[in-house]
Amino acid sequence: MRVLGIETSCDETAAAVVEDGRRVLSNIVASQFAIHHKYGGVVPELAARHHVERIHPVLEEALTVADVGWKEIDAVAVTRGPGLVVALLVGLQAAKGVAIARGIPLVDVHHLAGHISALHLETAMREPEGIGGPEGPPLPFVALVVSGGHTHLYRVDDPFSFHCLGATRDDAAGEAYDKVARLLGLGYPGGPILDALAAEVEGEPSIRFPRPILDDGGLDFSFSGLKTAVLYHLMDLGFYSSDPALPPLERAQGIGEDLLREIAYAFQAAVVEVLTEKALRAVRQEGCRALAVVGGVAANRGLRESLRRRSVEEGVGLYVPAVPFCTDNAAMIASAGYFLLEAGRQAETQALRLDADASWELSS
Ligand code: KG4
Ligand code: ZN
Repeated sequence: MRVLGIETSCDETAAAVVEDGRRVLSNIVASQFAIHHKYGGVVPELAARHHVERIHPVLEEALTVADVGWKEIDAVAVTRGPGLVVALLVGLQAAKGVAIARGIPLVDVHHLAGHISALHLETAMREPEGIGGPEGPPLPFVALVVSGGHTHLYRVDDPFSFHCLGATRDDAAGEAYDKVARLLGLGYPGGPILDALAAEVEGEPSIRFPRPILDDGGLDFSFSGLKTAVLYHLMDLGFYSSDPALPPLERAQGIGEDLLREIAYAFQAAVVEVLTEKALRAVRQEGCRALAVVGGVAANRGLRESLRRRSVEEGVGLYVPAVPFCTDNAAMIASAGYFLLEAGRQAETQALRLDADASWELSS
């Protein structure tokens, strides 16, 4: 079965054709990186406008690259939430249009279930970039979903049942990366920029930032204090202006390249240690044998390295998709849609009624 996946929940306009939930025939992602870069975050109205402009060319390209015609698409899967409602609606409208015009099933997918379904994509899990192999993690496993909007730990009992074990109480890890990058004047998205800077440093970090709520024995996260710790560090060094006319995240000035690298490295060390140790704690507590890490922050080199090392030490099977399938894409949505359809979770017969759900909960 060939499923056309559509994903527009944030700032990526994406479409993909996936066969039988696993084989990626095409995976097109039009990033709005250049549009939001100067604002230090995603501007919803701009995102929606660019989704409207890009959605049709991206859909056409997905079919062209897959070398299939519209008649060879058997179903459409679309992200219904969570995300920016004005952005989600663009993908939903396009998906409804295709499903109605072609008379094929339409299935709505939860964005985070999509991220987890990236583990089924052969190309996403193939070495060297994917960690763990295309057979995917044995059930039940723990999934750390770590992105710009979410930092959640789930126990996955079967492909459709996710039990939330812990979550961030404030900022998501990716959000912390984005805010710290903005504070350092580095632009958006912050994760890849700080990741690249951190990769230029080795050894013990020269600065030690706190490991928020790491020692509480629990599975929740908190990252907003870490951003504040970076801010205080800049203040102590005299690189933070007290000018109230400037937005708080735009007051840093005069930070040299070396200090930028050291801060990126020390910040990343703190985030990575908390994510790694809490994820492994969840695996131990739940008596699982495998850990999957998905979402944009799973692309992080420092995190991947730390997870590899610690999962070997703990005898835990580790599964992380290849980098292009960690960040938002539509192949993961097509894959999740396929498995939903296969399980008879059909699918919206009254496609016109399907509405976006900006704060849809995944957990049972
Ligand atoms: O999953 P995703 O593409 O979109 C959401 O669902 O949010 O994740 C985007 C987030 C952004 O916050 C971005 O800064 C972060 O993932 N990110 C990274 C890296 N690549 C993307 N964070 C750390 N290191 C990276 N290499
Ligand atoms: Zn995402």
